[in-house]
Amino acid sequence: MEITLDSPLDMHLHLRDGDMLKLTAPLSADFAGAVIMPNLVPPITTPDKMAAYSGRIREAMGDSPFTRYMTLFFTPQTEATLKCIRNTPEFFGFKLYPAGITTNSEGGIAHMDDADSTLRMMEEMDIPLLVHGESHGFVMDRETEFLAVYRDLATRYPKLRISMEHITTAAALELLDEFENLCATVTLQHLIITLDDVAGGALNPHLFCKPIAKRPGDRDALLQAALNGHPRLMFGSDSAPHPLHRKECCGCAAGVFTAPLALPRLAALFAEHHALGKLQDFVSGNACRIFGLAPVSKQVTLTDTPMHVPASYRSFGQQVVPMYAGQDIAWSIKKA
Ligand code: DOR
Ligand code: ZN
Repeated sequence: MEITLDSPLDMHLHLRDGDMLKLTAPLSADFAGAVIMPNLVPPITTPDKMAAYSGRIREAMGDSPFTRYMTLFFTPQTEATLKCIRNTPEFFGFKLYPAGITTNSEGGIAHMDDADSTLRMMEEMDIPLLVHGESHGFVMDRETEFLAVYRDLATRYPKLRISMEHITTAAALELLDEFENLCATVTLQHLIITLDDVAGGALNPHLFCKPIAKRPGDRDALLQAALNGHPRLMFGSDSAPHPLHRKECCGCAAGVFTAPLALPRLAALFAEHHALGKLQDFVSGNACRIFGLAPVSKQVTLTDTPMHVPASYRSFGQQVVPMYAGQDIAWSIKKA
C-alpha cells in the first residue's frame, strides 16, 4: 500500500539553534514547511531576531525547499511594530506562553489582561495567535483549567484566529467545536500514548512532554477526531529535541523528538484505522485552508515497508533520542 501526500506541514515544530539546529533541520526536510517555535534562549521577540533565525534555518536545511512559518514569542506590542511585523515575509503569528509554564517560557504572560491591547490589534490585522494552553494547577488538570481562558479569548476576540496548541484532552475538542475562531494542533504522541506509557511502568523520559499525555479516553477522542477528518484539527508534531543528557537524568527536560518518524508513523496509524483518505487534510489541507497557506510544492510517498528508527540521531556533537528509538515502524518514506 502507498499514499502520496502533497506538501505535508508540521504546524508546531522546535528546531532549536546552533549545532542542535544543524542536526534537527534536515530531519524535518520531508515536510514542505513548518510553524517554527520561538522559545529559544533568549526567545525570539523581535522581527530582526526572527529574520536572522529564519536565515539560520534556511542554511541548516541545505538544498531542501522548506517553507518557514516563523513565530514570535508573544510580548505586548505597539501598533507600529505590529504593522511592521505583519509585512515581514515568513512571519506567521505570535506564540503566547503563560509565564513559566514550559521550557524557556519565563518571559511569557503572567496576566492575560496585559495582552489585551495587542490581541485587539492582532484581531484587526488578522495576525494569528498560537497558545500554549496550560494553567499552573495540578499537572493532569492544567489543560482543562486553561479552557476557560480559551473560551474568554474566543469570545472577546471573535475575529482573532486562535490555535490551541498540542491539545491533549477530550474537553479541548469539545471547546473547539463551540467556537469557529478556534483551531487546534495535535501531536503524534498524543494520538497514541497515555500517561501509562510515560510513567505507568518503568519511567520513560523520552515520552515526557508538556502537556503531559493524559487518559485513554482523551487519547481515543483525539485519535477519532483526527481519523474522522475534523476540519479544524491540524498535525503539529511539537517535536522538541533535547540532548540525551538532558532527558536521561534527574530533572528531565520536557519534549518528545518525533520529527524524523512522524510521517511514517502517522501513515501507519491512519492505515491501521482504514483512514488513509483523511491524512492529507490532517497534515496539510486543514492548515492551508484555515490560514491560507501556500507552502512549497513537495510530494512525499509513504509505503507500508518498515522503517527502522535509530537508537539516537548524532551529529555536530549532539545526540538526540527519538520516540520509537531502536524499534520498527510499519511504514516508511519511499525515496525516489
Ligand atoms: O514538551 C514540551 N517541550 N512542551 C513545550 O511546551 C515546550 C517543548 C520544548 O521546547 O522543549
Ligand atoms: Zn512546543
